[in-house]
Amino acid sequence: MNLAIVGLQWGDEGKGKIVDFLARDFDVNARYQGGSNAGHTVRCGGEKVIFHQIPCGTLNKNVTGVIGGGCVLDPKIFFDEIDGLKRYDAAIEARIRISKFCNLIMPYHILIDEYREGTKQSIGTTKKGIGIAYEDKYGRIGIRVGDLYDTETFEKRLRLNISRKNHILMDVYNAEPLSDREIFDLYMEYAERMKPMVADDTLILYDAMVKNKNVLFEGAQGAMLDIDYGTYPYVTSSHTITSSVGIGLGIPPCSVERVLGVAKAYTTRVGLGPFPTEDTGLFGDRLRESGAEFGSTTGRPRRCGSFDAALIRYTARINGAKEMIITKLDVLSGVDKIKIAVGYESGDEFDPFAADTLVPKYIEVPGFVEDVSQVRSADDFPAEAVNYIKTLEEHTGLKVSHVSVGPEREAIVKM
Ligand code: IMP
Repeated sequence: MNLAIVGLQWGDEGKGKIVDFLARDFDVNARYQGGSNAGHTVRCGGEKVIFHQIPCGTLNKNVTGVIGGGCVLDPKIFFDEIDGLKRYDAAIEARIRISKFCNLIMPYHILIDEYREGTKQSIGTTKKGIGIAYEDKYGRIGIRVGDLYDTETFEKRLRLNISRKNHILMDVYNAEPLSDREIFDLYMEYAERMKPMVADDTLILYDAMVKNKNVLFEGAQGAMLDIDYGTYPYVTSSHTITSSVGIGLGIPPCSVERVLGVAKAYTTRVGLGPFPTEDTGLFGDRLRESGAEFGSTTGRPRRCGSFDAALIRYTARINGAKEMIITKLDVLSGVDKIKIAVGYESGDEFDPFAADTLVPKYIEVPGFVEDVSQVRSADDFPAEAVNYIKTLEEHTGLKVSHVSVGPEREAIVKM
């Protein structure tokens, strides 16, 4: 069975923990888009481990982790991540494969992202160079992992890029020019270390599927950050929705056999852009504190608010999700009455074009005071918590398959 895990909100839904939890039943865990902007948090032996580019089920020793051709790769962050993960599994490097089709994030991408974020064009990016790297990819001047192994092509492309980027750096941002020699040498070092991991992702995935192995497709960010169907222009620069699995790994669309959405029991977003149920008052502050809602990549405080069932109906539809996992239910413990948005004053459908003017229509359900973080069986949830979950099911049209009640792997309840 091939399963896609996708975030149904603006990212940070807790996909990392879910992928880590499910991965023990899979042979391959493949990322199909995004790059070092992602921050997927997993608990390992009581410690918090943050994955940025490596598929986060790869700590399971049965799993091969694949970084697909639809991703953009920052080699420095990638090696730092591997070196950090070696504390938990010295042999992890041998289980990681990087697509030769993957575009590289270069130092000038990061610099331009940083400078641009200081202008009126800012959308609150993670400043990891993601958007600029995808601009080069679609402008057909990007440098791919596979290009590193043809030194002449690499050098030619790098020179061309540096001369163009130096114009931007100097003329637009009044910054120092970059040296192509230094970057060439650095990326040649990366190429050497990366070599045993570089592969053709289309073949790895094809072989796995022909042999009836189980593949777990791991989306990064969330559906509302999709470049086309999210809250444009306040989005990331890749397709985060499940249709992107085929493109991002070079496999046919029918490869996705099942889609599991992940949504928090409330809503958060980092960066700028519309957020209809945002609560800038005490409730939002309370969620941020109790839920430790600070970005795992940038440390920025996350904006917080109520669950938006109308938004989930939209993201479930565009992703083909029929079921979802609700995360962080424990954070709502102690809230007197819990609000859920079920539609908007202007109509019940979420419309990304109107997202900044949508006024939510709320219903209220009784909250629960009990600490649910130790619950491991659905029968042990307080009646109000069960009612909250049932109400989410009713208004999203999705079956809730599991509820996560804490960061640890075992803090999850099958419904
Ligand atoms: P970029 O992907 O760094 O270009 O940032 C574009 C938007 O996506 C910004 O609003 C970021 O905060 C958001 N973003 C990017 N990656 C993540 C993520 O992993 N979780 C949540 N938001 C993200």
